[in-house]
Amino acid sequence: MAEKARILIIDDEEIVRDSCTQILAKGNYEILTASNGKDGLALLEEFQPDLALVDLKMPGISGFEVLEQIHAYDPTIVAIVITGFATVASAVEAMKKGTYDFLPKPFTPDELRMLVRRGLERRKLVLETIRLRKEKELLREHFAAIVSHELKSPLGAVQQNLFVLADDLAEKMTEEQKEKVSRLQGRIGDLVELINTWLRVISVDISKIRDDFKPLSIETVITKAVENVEPQAIRKDNEIKPKLSASLPKVSGNEGTLVEAIVNILNNAVKYSRIGEKIEIEAESDHSHISMHITDSGVGIAAEDLPHIFEDFYSGKTRPKGERSSGVGLGISKRIIEAHDGKISVKSKLGEGSSFTIRLPVIKT
Ligand SMILES: Nc1ncnc2c1ncn2[C@@H]1O[C@H](COP(=O)(O)OP(=O)(O)OP(=O)(O)O)[C@@H](O)[C@H]1O
Ligand SMILES: [Mg+2]
Repeated sequence: MAEKARILIIDDEEIVRDSCTQILAKGNYEILTASNGKDGLALLEEFQPDLALVDLKMPGISGFEVLEQIHAYDPTIVAIVITGFATVASAVEAMKKGTYDFLPKPFTPDELRMLVRRGLERRKLVLETIRLRKEKELLREHFAAIVSHELKSPLGAVQQNLFVLADDLAEKMTEEQKEKVSRLQGRIGDLVELINTWLRVISVDISKIRDDFKPLSIETVITKAVENVEPQAIRKDNEIKPKLSASLPKVSGNEGTLVEAIVNILNNAVKYSRIGEKIEIEAESDHSHISMHITDSGVGIAAEDLPHIFEDFYSGKTRPKGERSSGVGLGISKRIIEAHDGKISVKSKLGEGSSFTIRLPVIKT
């Protein structure tokens, strides 16, 4: 028999708790009840409910607060509100806090059974979707890791030998043969590039970078990142101007990856700027966070691209000619920033430029 679904009933009225328990007794459920929000919330950890029936009007912690905390604990728990005053306003309010549905008092046994059954089906679907998504992610990472590692050196060797061979035979080959060899070199070059891109995506192991966080000066991180992209910037005459507030507080982090996160954004700023346009990098702080803004006045990002640019392998439609665009830079930056408990966001207008903001928590002194 399948595992029993766990239902938590939080209601201050004994009669409601008892009648719900009775109505649901014949189902394949394990049921626990609590007569107030505090006791109900205390059961979450141990009981791990699949579904919670919550009274909105209780003494002590309000039903709304209980819903909010259940949602914060595990957003997949299906919450159903029992309410004696099913006004539209309280309905909307509860729905905002992630409530699945309502049960106005008085309710019939069938109404309760049906709602609970539907709610549990919904939870099953949500959990299944999450499981599949995780599986897909893992599969992709493992696959990429294996393929990349296994192919990288033999392909490198093929590429190297081909160079040597083409050089040795340069005098003897017909134009047609040279053309074929050059096409071959091109295709192998693309493959090596592709593998390097895969390796770039999977090289940021979030679980590992957290292990050696140290207090870092953001000035140093920014200076190193700017140095990194300077050669490209100089070639296109894109001056990079850092504007840093004096004595910024330190952040806790991993220097190498944070530099990489900023390099990816600066690289984009250069790549998507026109010749001679300036790029600004500012940093300021309040008592809890450092905010960095990297602003260019380049080609900008189309509105339909904006929601996707942080996804792996997404490149937008405004791509400069002759530039490689694997669509992985920002995905990597986002993972790095989030591993530092930070946030990254963007504002952009097509044709006018883009501004990326990174917010990182500072070390409290
Ligand atoms: N500063 C910017 N100005 C305009 N478009 C940008 C900017 N930064 C990012 N984009 C858009 O977002 C997309 C995703 O950026 P991302 O850095 O992830 O990939 P990419 O630059 O295409 O390739 P790479 O993996 O080499 O960095 C880009 O293809 C581009 O369309
Ligand atoms: Mg990029």
